[in-house]
Amino acid sequence: MANVTVIGAQWGDEGKGKIVDWLASRADAVVRFQGGHNAGHTLVVGDKVYKLSLLPSGIVTGTLSIIGNGVVLDPWALKAEIEKLEGQGVTITPENFAIADNCPLILPLHRDLDGLRETAAGAGKIGTTGRGIGPAYEDKVGRRAIRVCDLAHLDHLEPQLDRLCAHHDALRAGFDQPPVDREELLADLREIAPFVLQFAQPVWKRLKKVRKAGAKILFEGAQGVLLDVDHGTYPFVTSSNTVSGTAAAGSGLGPGSTGFVLGIVKAYTTRVGSGPFPTELSDDVGQRLGERGHEFGTVTGRQRRCGWFDAVLVRQSCAISGVTGIALTKLDVLDGFDTVRICTGYRLHGKILDYFPSHAADQAAVEPIYEEMEGWRETTAGARSWADLPAQAIKYIQRVQELIETPVALVSTSPEREDTILVRDPFVDRG
Ligand code: GDP
Ligand code: IMO
Ligand code: MG
Repeated sequence: MANVTVIGAQWGDEGKGKIVDWLASRADAVVRFQGGHNAGHTLVVGDKVYKLSLLPSGIVTGTLSIIGNGVVLDPWALKAEIEKLEGQGVTITPENFAIADNCPLILPLHRDLDGLRETAAGAGKIGTTGRGIGPAYEDKVGRRAIRVCDLAHLDHLEPQLDRLCAHHDALRAGFDQPPVDREELLADLREIAPFVLQFAQPVWKRLKKVRKAGAKILFEGAQGVLLDVDHGTYPFVTSSNTVSGTAAAGSGLGPGSTGFVLGIVKAYTTRVGSGPFPTELSDDVGQRLGERGHEFGTVTGRQRRCGWFDAVLVRQSCAISGVTGIALTKLDVLDGFDTVRICTGYRLHGKILDYFPSHAADQAAVEPIYEEMEGWRETTAGARSWADLPAQAIKYIQRVQELIETPVALVSTSPEREDTILVRDPFVDRG
């Protein structure tokens, strides 16, 4: 079965959106399976720039795009994003877009709580995107969530609202905040309900049909493995599982459906928000990476922290997520450096480690061990074939795949959709 699952193998912003958009024309359906509008993907097609947060990145090519049950959905953010894209000429109808009716909703009370907690945490804050992601997932597993299907039964919402508001009112009181205005919440839900419901359905059924017809499904992960709630740099993580295995649970298909797992890997490392980052550079090299890579968040506009490529972290992510092959992105950002460095191990209290430890204090204390390579003077920007790459850049790619013990399937050399080198086709190659 020729499905592909795309996941980020670092701390997010690896260029997943660009690669999913590029692959979407070869797929019959694109499915988002976790996260919410904390994600931010920039797609560049000719002179057009599309910024997506919640919509699957297949929407721009018109491929059937599905939001799976594993996503947390802010209905107002969804409406705004759809309207923005329609303004850019993208067609979004129930024909090419569907939302799982068992998707939990992000409500204004979740955004409130996210903000209140972050403010109260002061210097210890996680640095969330402030979108209410964590509180919404908490209510999902706490069995208090209002879900998409509830929008069709708002006249019977009273008992669920009681449960949800009792919980939130107690938390809000602890922050000296007034209780939730239930009337206002209900009125807002009534207003937005028809918009969301036109796309709502049991998407597992639609996917079953699509699959039976032999269609190719592209699963689109958000964030990255190092932000996974189990495997990431806990507690500086997001509140969902970002690993490939979530594709099945988050869309309503079996575990055998994930197919080729394509890990998206930036040729260096970035992170936005707080938390450990062994190869972070606070010198002019870090600044140069940030400037050349335009490393500012799509969602919050925050400056991303930058550092050298960390092969230990990516090797770990690839193992945890069963990555079949990687797409190496932003290679062009490394153009023009005399030398480039790769982290190949850590030193922790005098010991050498070949993996990233689990404890937050150890994660913060590890010191990177670097290997230095000669850089390349020539430009790789816009290269579309292996033959266009300078010899030293090829050596860098080969060293990366050796260290992470995973082959390269694609290389990306600019934000533009077509500036992509195909080494192994994930829809054809079974790894
Ligand atoms: P995502 O969250 O993983 O989809 O990544 P983002 O879109 O948040 O961040 C990646 C940024 O890098 C975007 O601005 C892309 O347009 C840009 N980008 C993607 N691939 C490349 C590449 O190969 N080279 C350069 N220079 N920029 C790229
Ligand atoms: P894409 O899909 C980079 C980070 C936040 C914060 C932590 C928790 O564009 O790669 P949250 O709002 O999820 O509770 O924040 O996770 N984060 C991301 N960082 N890219 C993302 O998504 C991110 N989504 C969340 O900065 O550190
Ligand atoms: Mg992003």
